[in-house]
Amino acid sequence: MICAGNWKMHKSPTQARQFITQLKEALSETERQEVVVLVPALCLEAVQQTAGKQIKFGGQNSHWENSGAFTGENSPQTLAEMGAGFCLVGHSERRQLFHETDTMVAAKVRSLQKQNVIPIVCIGETLEERRQEKTVEVLRRQLERGLAEVNSDRKFWLAYEPVWAIGTGEVATVRQVEEAHQVIRDWLVRHVPGQGQTPILYGGSVKAANAGELAKVPNVAGFLIGGASLELDSFLGVLRSTAK
Ligand code: PGA
Repeated sequence: MICAGNWKMHKSPTQARQFITQLKEALSETERQEVVVLVPALCLEAVQQTAGKQIKFGGQNSHWENSGAFTGENSPQTLAEMGAGFCLVGHSERRQLFHETDTMVAAKVRSLQKQNVIPIVCIGETLEERRQEKTVEVLRRQLERGLAEVNSDRKFWLAYEPVWAIGTGEVATVRQVEEAHQVIRDWLVRHVPGQGQTPILYGGSVKAANAGELAKVPNVAGFLIGGASLELDSFLGVLRSTAK
């Protein structure tokens, strides 16, 4: 199972170093899990220096250009140079708070893949869209547009994160996760040659108490974990409850 922690805008470099050091010490029992932390850009150097081989890491956002007059943005080339193996793209907070569109998502996916940084493309419906029974339509649209420039010879991951389940404590049901992941898998098989096995993570209020059950759902390769990835005990709790 993949357990990817999304720290969002939490932790300073000092706190990051401390957390990663403790996580490394604790990891031996769960070493078959694939552990990834997605950290603020300002913590990348601290994490790179501490992570070792077992903990993979990445960023949470990047621009699609490698350099230019884009004040405040992160370069995908620099992310790669800092050892980032991954970068989140199109997280719902980026879409809602920073007006990131599917077209931007597509450009970011293309440029990260060029740098051999694996994009983790986040998709998911809002509560209103689910109530209007538009979930499948929204997922297919986000896939089609967000992966419009994907290179099928290079890796990418997907994360299904229903917006209404993020940071709310309200987790999608096993049935809802199963249905959404099946829609995503079917779309991938049909549209991206050779990517039938691309990992699809679930994200949205994942914690130790619900991860074990969700881990058994078909097409769930792992989790994108926000709140529960910030404290060592809660992150380890998720890792342990999903160890197979
Ligand atoms: P959460 O966040 O686990 O706190 O709901 C998930 C995410 O935003 O990736």
